[in-house]
Amino acid sequence: MVSDTQIARTARRLQSAESVVLFAGSGLSAESGVPTFRGEDGLYSDEKVATYTRVRTLTKQPGEVLTWYQKRRDMVREVSPNEGHRALARMSRQFEAFDVATQNVDNLLERAWSRENGRGVIRHLHGEITDTVCHDCGSRPDNPDIDLSELPKCGDCGGLLRPGVVLFGEPLPTEAFESSRDAAARAEACLVVGTSGLVYPAARIPEVAARRGAFVVEVNPNVSGLSDRCDECLRGEAGDILPALEEQL
Ligand code: OAD
Repeated sequence: MVSDTQIARTARRLQSAESVVLFAGSGLSAESGVPTFRGEDGLYSDEKVATYTRVRTLTKQPGEVLTWYQKRRDMVREVSPNEGHRALARMSRQFEAFDVATQNVDNLLERAWSRENGRGVIRHLHGEITDTVCHDCGSRPDNPDIDLSELPKCGDCGGLLRPGVVLFGEPLPTEAFESSRDAAARAEACLVVGTSGLVYPAARIPEVAARRGAFVVEVNPNVSGLSDRCDECLRGEAGDILPALEEQL
């Protein structure tokens, strides 16, 4: 577990940075009640669910996949930002530039940012679950709040409407990825919070920051695929570590 000395040392290093990139994963939202993907209790412990995030499964079994996404959409609306999201939002105000590259499809960071008056841009590398898009023509309905489990059709082309998330087999949104990569290349510090760091190209973001010589901090109770690239690994839950860190800034 993390010591007070480690938190204080990390805070001192962060204080000397003007630009920060946050790379976030599902562990950040875990304490809000949103399950992570990997690990013992992760969504992927159900083999069937593990196939639902692939584009191939959407085209073969749209009913099953869209019903699962609709349940996740409903769940995301029910949950609230946790102490980790809120501490990050407050922290963001202390830097000249604060860019967020999140793999999470929920809107908990936005909600914390608006409540705590956070600074900087939040970019979703894997899309947003509340967004609705046509799988065939890419157009978006005027009202995205549609029940996907009823397999609604696109008003423009009659194609399948689906959530605006990135599925395995699809490219990342270009602007979100490229702008995050540019921010990482400029960042003096990088926070890597609640991610296994196993999914590429998203996981290139903290790697770019590390290569540039940024101070890289991981917040995660477990070792991740990115731990080796980090200067400090704060082992614990985001909801405990981030408020402690923020207090020292
Ligand atoms: P994972 O499920 O792969 O990893 C979650 C990470 O969060 C693990 O390293 C946990 O140790 C950590 N964790 C759990 N609880 C935590 C807490 N309270 N505080 C801090 N960390 C905690 O989730 P991601 O890394 O987000 O992509 O997964 C990346 C991508 O893989 C997702 O965006 C999704 C998935 O397949 C797509 O669907 C395209």
